[in-house]
Amino acid sequence: MDTVFLNGEFIAQQQATVSVFDRGFLFGDSVYEVIPFYRGRGFRLDEHLQRLEHSLRAIQINADYDWKTILTRLVDMNGGGNLSVYLQISRGCSGNRSHIYAADMVPTVFACCSPIKNIYAAGADSIAGVRAIVTADLRWGRCDIKSTGLLPNILVMQQARQAGVDEALMIRDGLLTEGASCNLMLVDKGVIYTPKRGSEILGGTTRELILELAAEDGIPTQEVDIDYDRLMAADEVWISSSTRAVVPVLEIDGQPVADGNKGPLWARMFELFTRYQNDLMNG
Ligand code: PDD
Repeated sequence: MDTVFLNGEFIAQQQATVSVFDRGFLFGDSVYEVIPFYRGRGFRLDEHLQRLEHSLRAIQINADYDWKTILTRLVDMNGGGNLSVYLQISRGCSGNRSHIYAADMVPTVFACCSPIKNIYAAGADSIAGVRAIVTADLRWGRCDIKSTGLLPNILVMQQARQAGVDEALMIRDGLLTEGASCNLMLVDKGVIYTPKRGSEILGGTTRELILELAAEDGIPTQEVDIDYDRLMAADEVWISSSTRAVVPVLEIDGQPVADGNKGPLWARMFELFTRYQNDLMNG
């Protein structure tokens, strides 16, 4: 994973440096994407790039790059295969620290790769269910922007680790929002429920795919408010993200979810994901 992309160049990672006055470093004034590539091909690449454009527009960064070409080339240069690409764009660097920024700033663009497991090739049995806590959502009011300002996410994840579990589900004003780095779904009597898309959650590309695949397979879905009682009474609870796909949550706040096993609708959804990924890779 030696080659990275920095400001228009493909260079060795040891040579990639950024100014200490970069606004990404000083203020977290930057946005990012994490995109899986399987066998060298981007998974939901268009959807990731659409969300990137949304984030960039929302914070008024103008970065005119051919992302698809750059990322595909970066993946090739790192040997192709199964890689996760991290892409970060900060507002840039002005040589001093000021909350106010100039209109003509040149964004800093950085991308790198790291190896990932091909979850689909590994199969459903290789997916371990997770245990979670529910904790306060400490984040700001624009969680739809994929900002690198991730301190609240880090704090709740650390809280989960200290509680001896894998994941933190966040709650704000009595309603579940999402996980520290994933979206949230539950199943009740054969229906998939997930919190409404808005500024309280990130519009996850995997969440969107779940809704699409469910619709094609005739599984009903609804975007609704989910309170704690509804969560705890669910037949199944899932989390989703690009790097983990769809993962069953088997225990929340020390209580088993239903019988504490991976549920049948999760197994079906994982099958639909696997088929989708196979078609994509072989298409
Ligand atoms: N995170 N919600 C949050 C807060 C996230 O950080 C993520 C992804 C998601 C899921 O989005 P998607 O399905 O498009 O990956 C939801 C990435 C993986 C990360 O920060 O590493």
